[in-house]
Amino acid sequence: MQGSARGKLILCGEHAVVYGHPAIAMPIDRTTTVTLTPSDGPTRWQGPGDHRATEVLRRLTAESGFTARASSDIPIGRGLGSSAALSVAIVRAMGIEDPEAQIEAAMRGEQVFHGNPSGLDVQVAVREAMIRFTRNEGFTVLPPPTFTVVVIDTGMPGDTAALVAGVGSRRPQIDATLDRIGSLVDEVAASLGDVRKMGPLLTENHHLLSEIGVSTPLLDDMVSLALDAGALGAKLSGAGGGGVVVALVEDPAPVLRAADGRGYSAFAVIGRPAGIRPQVAPK
Ligand code: PMV
Repeated sequence: MQGSARGKLILCGEHAVVYGHPAIAMPIDRTTTVTLTPSDGPTRWQGPGDHRATEVLRRLTAESGFTARASSDIPIGRGLGSSAALSVAIVRAMGIEDPEAQIEAAMRGEQVFHGNPSGLDVQVAVREAMIRFTRNEGFTVLPPPTFTVVVIDTGMPGDTAALVAGVGSRRPQIDATLDRIGSLVDEVAASLGDVRKMGPLLTENHHLLSEIGVSTPLLDDMVSLALDAGALGAKLSGAGGGGVVVALVEDPAPVLRAADGRGYSAFAVIGRPAGIRPQVAPK
């Protein structure tokens, strides 16, 4: 029994989405594949990830009777959806086909990693489309991205559960900032075909994420690097604390070169009418 699921990139709205505001996210062509076989003894995980992957597997299958082999090219803990892809790949390997049933089951896996997940990551992994998602209203499918972004990797994981808890502890003082992020997301949704309009909105989203305490000097530096190299907008993507920066570009080459010049690993996600395809940064 085998199942696969793709990683994702949050374009805007992270953290505020936990409190009922909208967010936009899209799948990327990085995949986790899980092969499930019946076996004797306790259920075992053989693949990338730590003890939490075993816990997810046992929660979604059974305490004993399975071995899961997994392979993945989604960097772990970078806000690129590795944990949601793992849960969705497991439920697909179990033969669950109905999308709503996949989501319900995979969310039990996400709770192992995230404690209080909004469901955004699992929704994107299951829907396999760019979506606008709110926790209470659900999702709408957006047109496939026609814009290009460069993803710059800090090389460091962010602790999503701790960052989400930290944001929660700063409420209600930061609620006006979360509201502003929510309305920005709708402005981004209305400007998906107009990168010059969208860029500054993404940069503003980064500043608001900084305000709620989830950016770091390295993420801020990567945002400045991308903007200096000609990006139209840039922000951290995912929970922050580490993870990645997403930079909206007309031409990925200068931003990829600037990232490479500083020793940061980066790749472009190039929107196409029929979908998206990442390219590994030229070395
Ligand atoms: O797992 P990450 O790093 O992509 O972060 C998830 C996004 C948050 O909005 C911070 C949390 C959530 O559950 O939506």
